[in-house]
Amino acid sequence: MSSLWHPFADMHSVANAELIIRSGKGVVITDVHGRDYLDATASLWYCNVGYGRQEIADRVAAQMTQLHAYSNFGAFATEATIQLADRLAALSPMEDTVVFFGAGGSDAVDTAAKLARRYWDLLGKPGKRVIVSREHGYHGMHGWGTSLAGIPGNKAGYGGAFIDEVIHVGVGDTEGLGALFEQRGHEIAAFIGEPVIGAGGVIAPEPHYWAEVNRLCREHDILLIADEVICGFGRMGEWFGSIAYGIQPDMMTFAKGVSSGYLPIGGVLVGKRVRAPFWDDPVPGGVFKHGYTYSGHAASAVAALANLDIVEREDLIGRVRTMTPILDRALRRLEGAPLVSEIRTVGLTGAVAFRPDLLAADPALADKVAAACIRHGVATRSIRGHAIQLSPAFVITEAELDAIVDGFGRALVEVAGA
Ligand SMILES: Cc1ncc(COP(=O)(O)O)c(C=O)c1O
Repeated sequence: MSSLWHPFADMHSVANAELIIRSGKGVVITDVHGRDYLDATASLWYCNVGYGRQEIADRVAAQMTQLHAYSNFGAFATEATIQLADRLAALSPMEDTVVFFGAGGSDAVDTAAKLARRYWDLLGKPGKRVIVSREHGYHGMHGWGTSLAGIPGNKAGYGGAFIDEVIHVGVGDTEGLGALFEQRGHEIAAFIGEPVIGAGGVIAPEPHYWAEVNRLCREHDILLIADEVICGFGRMGEWFGSIAYGIQPDMMTFAKGVSSGYLPIGGVLVGKRVRAPFWDDPVPGGVFKHGYTYSGHAASAVAALANLDIVEREDLIGRVRTMTPILDRALRRLEGAPLVSEIRTVGLTGAVAFRPDLLAADPALADKVAAACIRHGVATRSIRGHAIQLSPAFVITEAELDAIVDGFGRALVEVAGA
């Protein structure tokens, strides 16, 4: 038994059943016994360019040799950090974007939430403190993220919310959102939402959802934060989910696909409006006293730059657009398969959801199917306890997608027959 405490794991059952991955190439990972698995999820939605990219490793090694990292606090910076900030600002759909870095998506969410409150405080409206989030939303596991969580199991057991000033609304409920803004807009700092809900179950927005959210936020003077941690950097067939859905955010949180996870990095893209009192039209005392030791880590920034070079050079976002209908077609072969209630796909993501009556009888059903998939050579996991996840690397081929769906199918038959 190892000493590793696994995230989101029942250690009682995992401690003697670790699946230890040793190497990866493309969309295939290999465990310590030499067994290969097709990686259906790009690890945790992040390995967009696939495993084993030598050029990222080489560029990171060169940066590490020269200077692995230096603080970006105060006036300090590194060249790589500035280069990445400028590159991301140029990709951003927001005007005059600036970038605040952290080490991942949870840092990004906490940064954006604090920045929203700091913004209103500087503008003389300290009463605007509440952040509104959605049912089924996932915004990381720091204090803010746990409170914003719309997946009940992820926030239970801590004796209440860490941050009380959070209100949840229904996933597509613009009427409820409008009524809430009407009633309590003077207390609300920001609305946060994933362009497409990821960990909560791969849920695409209704056609006019985001246009209405844009309108309501503007009408009630509420900041709009797009949580792009999964959707950002191509998974929806555009650089950002906000571009794909016409969202007009004031801030965008990002992580994962920016570096494909070659090194950890994330942050917040901040648009013209929120940057103004800190940068352009400074309000006395307008310093954002926030930051992390690894904000803008140089080697991580180089990993991100090298990753973005690959995404551009190989037109991997064009590839996502090509593969999107192929993924949809492949996964829909499981409609009518044992245990399955619904197939959902959007961009290069999908979920196979199980029948509610079977889940009620056996809450571990989705985990059992995920475990069976692994026995059939496909690495996936359950999401929100009701479905299994498909979110492959952008480099996946049609044959590999078909093989993943075949593995899912064999696992469903196995678990149904057990
Ligand atoms: C939409 C969203 N926001 C935030 C996070 C948190 O990111 P991290 O796990 O890097 O802290 C995630 C992680 O899955 C996510 O999907």
